[in-house]
Amino acid sequence: MQLVIDSANIEKIKYLQEYFPIDGVTTNPTIIVKEKKPFLPLLQEIRDIIGNEKELFVQTVGSHAEELVKEAQFINKELPGNIIVKVPVTTEGIKAIKLLKEQGIRTLATTVYTPMSAYVAAKAGAEYVAPYVNRIDNLTGNGIQVVKDIVTIFKEHELSCRVLGASFKNVQQMQQVCLAGAEGITAAPELIEAMLTIPSVDANVQQFKDDWLTLYGKDAINLMETK
Ligand code: E4P
Repeated sequence: MQLVIDSANIEKIKYLQEYFPIDGVTTNPTIIVKEKKPFLPLLQEIRDIIGNEKELFVQTVGSHAEELVKEAQFINKELPGNIIVKVPVTTEGIKAIKLLKEQGIRTLATTVYTPMSAYVAAKAGAEYVAPYVNRIDNLTGNGIQVVKDIVTIFKEHELSCRVLGASFKNVQQMQQVCLAGAEGITAAPELIEAMLTIPSVDANVQQFKDDWLTLYGKDAINLMETK
């Protein structure tokens, strides 16, 4: 199951790459614009941090299929390593996904709100679909059910497309997407960090340390220093 960073912030990506078992980075136009930097050097910087193996997801901005295809080719030419082109599930987007599949360019169908648009994208050749859990929840409250239904449809009909849950507001949504059988989640750095933000853990660790120091003395700050 993949854990992906949904951000283009260099400092946050560096930190998470160092501390967390990260599989890749997703971006979208809004995420990139937040960094206020030229986009290709920014993406190259992200690539340098995560290396060439991990997947870097880059979204198209054009409207027509031919334009989307050209953008996808451009992204693949300009950036090294494992690139997945994110294409929205519009009608033009689906045409582009079909054409890109023929060219061997890997895609993720983004802005997925319904199981049937995920189904069409998978049939068209998308390698991933990204259901927008929190945005669906804001509309209808059934973001998790949409993920479950997509997973079921892909399994029942042997569609080899992976579900990367996206758009989260809290860790509970992320957990439910894991339980729903998605192959991965992409989340903002703050939410990835929040998976380990549990006050009881810190309290427990402090208690273990205090107990240790009680017997072995104040210098016994680790096992090597403990006599
Ligand atoms: C990821 O692929 C999406 O672009 C992203 O998760 C959208 O998240 P948001 O709804 O928090 O903006």
